[in-house]
Order: sequence, then structure tokens, then C-alpha cells
Amino acid sequence: MAQDTKAKFSHITISLHWIVGLTIITLLAVGLYMAENEVYSLYTLHKSVGVIVFAFVAVRVLWRIKNGWPVPASDYKRHEQILAKIVHWVLIIGTVLMPVSGMLMSGAGGHGFGIFGFEIMAPNPDPANPGEALPLNAFTAGIGHEMHEILGFVMMAAIALHIAGALKHHLIDKDETLKRMLGKTIDV
Ligand code: HEM
Ligand code: HEM
Repeated sequence: MAQDTKAKFSHITISLHWIVGLTIITLLAVGLYMAENEVYSLYTLHKSVGVIVFAFVAVRVLWRIKNGWPVPASDYKRHEQILAKIVHWVLIIGTVLMPVSGMLMSGAGGHGFGIFGFEIMAPNPDPANPGEALPLNAFTAGIGHEMHEILGFVMMAAIALHIAGALKHHLIDKDETLKRMLGKTIDV
């Protein structure tokens, strides 16, 4: 399997970055919209895509462990390299904890979740209140909910910084950081 080099990223790194990255941006937007406006018809879609992306996230984490982190494309300042590293860590940990907290909230909350029609955790309807869910563990569901909400905002801030960084490299420093993530072989 091709490893990343300074001159060129492997297809695995590039595909996983864009599949996971663009899906997460969509899930953050859909999640915020549906929770704020109580659009319950979007919940199944949000949960299904969230569970699917978790599989890609798991492969990505294993790939990072095997392959290591990318070497900076150019010799930019040390404090910028440290900031980029911190943001990459926040993003990768966030991509793991968002689906995990979502599954905890929905699973322990008795709402259940799955991948479209395929049920992974069944809902637990409350016999006393038709149409309502009976939590399996309200405390765990509450922790999952809090984590999901707070981490969602942390992710949005980290992604904004990350995109600003990518644009700064591309437009101000005029280096090849972004082009490398788009598949180009760069001069080293
Ligand atoms: C339009 C949006 C995005 C752009 C333009 C972008 C751009 C980039 C670029 C240019 C790099 C390479 C940095 C380097 O060479 O050191 C990178 C790496 C990375 N990006 Fe993004 N990114 C975007 C969205 C995201 C999102 C939404 C996430 C996470 C949820 C993310 C997570 C990461 C991570 C963890 C790395 C480190 C390398 C890796 O694990 O693949 N990115 N990004
Ligand atoms: C990377 C994956 C995911 C991202 C980025 C994401 C993001 C979000 C965001 C930003 C919100 C709005 C939070 C709020 O204001 O309350 C939200 C809500 C929600 N998410 Fe996710 N989510 C992901 C995966 C999941 C998964 C896997 C599940 C369940 C299996 C899930 C279940 C929910 C539910 C039920 C809500 C609504 C909570 C409420 O009504 O307050 N999410 N999500």
C-alpha cells in the first residue's frame, strides 16, 4: 500500500480526507438545522449517514496510526506548524467522538438508530406514552447529548480555522499544501 511522501499523498489519505471531511461538514449543518428547528423527518437520515461515516473514520484513524502524520509541504513557521498539528488532532478526535456520542444519545435515550432500514439498536417505545421513547439509561443519554452538542461547536470552530489555514497557504504563502491534498505531486 502506497505510503504518503512529502511530494505526494496516497490515494487513501486523499480519498478518506475528502469523504470524511465533506460528510462531516454536511452532518454539522444538517444536525444544527434539524435540532434547532425540530425537523424530526431528518433525524433518520442524519443518524444513518453518521453511522456510515464512523466506519470511514475508523479506517482513517488506523491509516494515520500506520502511516503517521503528513510532513508539512513547505518550511512554514514553527508556531504555524504547531497550530496546524493541534487542529488536526482536534479534528481527528472530533470525527471519532461525534458519531460515538450520537450513538450513545440515541441508543441510551431509547430512540434507537441504524443505517436507513437496517436496525442496529432498536427503539424502546414507552407503553405509557405512545409515540414517546423510554430511555434505557437517561444519564448516559444526557452525557451523549451534551458531548454531541458541545463537540459540534468545537468541530465547527476547528474546521473554520483549518479552512482558513488551507486558504492562507494557498493564497498568501502560495505554497502547495492544498494542491497536495487535491492529489498533485509537488516539488520538494
Ligand atoms: C473545504 C474544507 C477543507 C479543506 C480545504 C481542507 C484542506 C486540507 C489540507 C490542504 C490538508 C493538508 C495539510 C498538510 O499538508 O499538512 C488537510 C489535512 C487534514 N484535514 Fe482537511 N480540509 C478541509 C476539511 C476538513 C474537515 C471537515 C476535516 C475533519 C472533519 C479535516 C481534517 C483534516 C485532517 C485530520 C488533516 C490531517 C491529514 C489527514 O489526516 O488526512 N479537513 N486538510
Ligand atoms: C460525524 C458525525 C456527526 C456529526 C458531525 C453530527 C453533528 C450534529 C450536530 C452539530 C447536531 C446539532 C446539535 C444540537 O444543537 O443539539 C446534531 C444533532 C443530532 N445528532 Fe448528530 N452528528 C453526527 C453523528 C450522529 C450519529 C451517529 C447519531 C446517532 C446515531 C446522531 C444523532 C443526532 C441526534 C438525535 C441529534 C438531535 C439532538 C437534538 O434533538 O437536540 N448524530 N448532530
